[in-house]
Amino acid sequence: MIAFLSRLFARAVPALLQASPRDAHAIAELHAASFSRGWSEAEIEAMLLERNVVAHRALLGQRFAGFILSRLAGDEAEILSIAVVSARRGRGVARALLDLNMRRLAGLGARAVFLEVDEDNEPARRLYARAGFHEVGKRPGYYRQDKGAAATALVLRRDLA
Ligand SMILES: CC(C)(COP(=O)(O)OP(=O)(O)OC[C@H]1O[C@@H](n2cnc3c(N)ncnc32)[C@H](O)[C@@H]1OP(=O)(O)O)[C@@H](O)C(=O)NCCC(=O)NCCS
Repeated sequence: MIAFLSRLFARAVPALLQASPRDAHAIAELHAASFSRGWSEAEIEAMLLERNVVAHRALLGQRFAGFILSRLAGDEAEILSIAVVSARRGRGVARALLDLNMRRLAGLGARAVFLEVDEDNEPARRLYARAGFHEVGKRPGYYRQDKGAAATALVLRRDLA
C-alpha cells in the first residue's frame, strides 16, 4: 500500500493555484526551511497583499508542495523566491510553478524577467537554464554565509516574447 501510494505521488501532477495571504504561514515555513535568512510570516503576508506581486502555490495531493513569488514593475519582473518542499523535489514542481508564474507575468505585460541565484545552487541554476534564463551579471560576495567567504550571486534574465 505504501509503495503504491509513493508511486502514485511520484507521478502526480501538481495542482497549481494562485496564492493568497492565507498561504503566508505555509510559505513562511518552507522559506525558512529553504534559505538561511527566512522571511517572517508577516513579511510574506505583506508581499501577498501587494498588487504587483504574482504568487502561486503547488499542491501534490492535498499537501502544500511549493510556492513562487514574483514582482512586476513596469514591463520588467523579478522572481523573488521559489522553493519546493524537500521531500517533493525533483518531480517538476518548480518547473511547473515557474512556467505558470511567467505566463501570468507575460499576461500582465512583463517583457523580461530577472532573478538572482547563488552560483553554487546547482538545482536552481539547472531549473532556470532549462526555463530559458541566461546570465547577465554577477554580484560577488552577495550572499552572506555562516562560515567562509560570501557566495556570488548570478543575475539571470529571460525575455518573454
Ligand atoms: C531549486 C528548487 C526550487 C527546484 O525544485 P524542484 O521541484 O526540485 O525542481 P524540478 O523538479 O522542477 O526540476 C527542474 C529542473 O531543476 C533541475 N534540478 C532539480 N533538482 C535538482 C538536483 N537535486 N540537482 C540538479 N538539478 C536539479 C533539473 O535540471 C530539473 O529539470 P530536468 O529534470 O527537466 O532537467 C528546489 O531544489 C528548492 O526548493 N531548493 C531550495 C530553495 C532554492 O534554492 N530556491 C531557488 C533560489 S534562487
